[in-house]
Amino acid sequence: MRTRPLKVALLGCGVVGSEVARIMTTHADDLAARIGAPVELAGVAVRRPDKVRGGIPAELITTDATALVKRGDIDVVVEVIGGIEPARSLITTAFEHGASVVSANKALLAQDGATLYAAAEQHGQDLYYEAAVAGAIPLIRPLRESLAGDKINRVMGIVNGTTNFILDKMDNSGAGYSEALDEATALGYAEADPTADVEGFDAAAKAAILAGIAFHTRVRLDDVYREGMTEVTAADFASAKQMGCTIKLLAICERAADGESVTARVHPAMIPLTHPLASVREAYNAVFVEADAAGQLMFYGPGAGGAPTASAVLGDLVAVCRNKLNEATGPGESAYTQLPVSPMGDVVTRYHISLDVADKPGVLAQVATVFAEHGVSIDTVRQQGKDGEASLVVVTHRAPDAALSGTVEALRKLDTVRGVASIMRVEGE
Ligand SMILES: NC(=O)c1ccc[n+]([C@@H]2O[C@H](COP(=O)([O-])OP(=O)(O)OC[C@H]3O[C@@H](n4cnc5c(N)ncnc54)[C@H](OP(=O)(O)O)[C@@H]3O)[C@@H](O)[C@H]2O)c1
Repeated sequence: MRTRPLKVALLGCGVVGSEVARIMTTHADDLAARIGAPVELAGVAVRRPDKVRGGIPAELITTDATALVKRGDIDVVVEVIGGIEPARSLITTAFEHGASVVSANKALLAQDGATLYAAAEQHGQDLYYEAAVAGAIPLIRPLRESLAGDKINRVMGIVNGTTNFILDKMDNSGAGYSEALDEATALGYAEADPTADVEGFDAAAKAAILAGIAFHTRVRLDDVYREGMTEVTAADFASAKQMGCTIKLLAICERAADGESVTARVHPAMIPLTHPLASVREAYNAVFVEADAAGQLMFYGPGAGGAPTASAVLGDLVAVCRNKLNEATGPGESAYTQLPVSPMGDVVTRYHISLDVADKPGVLAQVATVFAEHGVSIDTVRQQGKDGEASLVVVTHRAPDAALSGTVEALRKLDTVRGVASIMRVEGE
């Protein structure tokens, strides 16, 4: 075993970084044996130098992250600051100074992954980011390496623990969204400002990363259709139950049937209780992958948290250190297919539409005609009357999203339709 240590700069020492430092220290001997050389924590960049950070020698702490990555003797930079800047500049500076990078930064990778990959390749360094999607769950490496010989057609997952916790509570207790969010906040599953989670921004960043890797093309955050889950109601769950379904916030990346384009989207959807994703409870994550030869695969586990996320970071650190010792690099960007990303209107799926209508003869026929005029075929209709008003629940066969939008627009114009109470896609059948 080489005795000269590989030097690691840790950028950020918060929820994830502090666990990375802890595991690097407590598992130092095992890591050295697995890598073939010891790894040394050479510096830790933070914003607040006076904060007590147990187990980290004070002389390693710095507020000058740029100087740390420019030192010239750093082999690997672990970026767990998050956000776009200064993370992006620090990562590119690290490559320029001969360091490989391990990052957990989904926001940056989804927005500007191509720039980072190009900088890594230009300087002959590695860029690994297993922790950026679904925390501890091995997913990026299986997609990039284990399935590199297969053809992936679909990746569908629960990639945000906060929203899964909230929806699971609503499902099991009959709680409304606000009540379930309050519980998630009290238990530490939701941040004080939950927007990034509940509006689907976090899941959309992960969908962009997953789609790019799965389909070997570039997919940016802006390419991902996004709908949050704040409008999901207890009534939606009741409807879902009647259909033998539950509701999950899903990230769905699909190759079009003709193979000529891809789509990436995040929105709440009904899925059958028999689907493996339906049984993913609380804050857990799971990703369901469908590939030509492998068939259906499911990856499941904790999608966030300091120690679970650090596990993924450490796995990357070991791989990158091994590459360093072998003077090699792992896989870089694979975007050779250059498949275009189609708009949401082209997505074909099923829909569950709940309408408030006048309870009088002929309404059902009127509504059915609107669906037919837009080429959306109805699978089932359920009607419940009450005091001159009625609710009509329509479940469609598969139809393009644009056709469904046209249908809903026309339905809203009917005098007999008082309102469209909810529209939800039905997936996983
Ligand atoms: N938390 C999770 O469960 C989780 C899961 C998957 C991925 N991630 C990703 O992991 C990354 C880190 O998340 P986190 O939860 O650990 O964040 P965090 O707890 O907020 O920690 C951020 C760290 O970065 C430091 N920092 C901020 N700005 C800095 C700057 N300009 N220069 C140097 N240091 C700076 C902070 O310093 P101070 O300590 O002095 O404030 C802190 O130590 C993010 O990209 C996140 O998306 C997190």
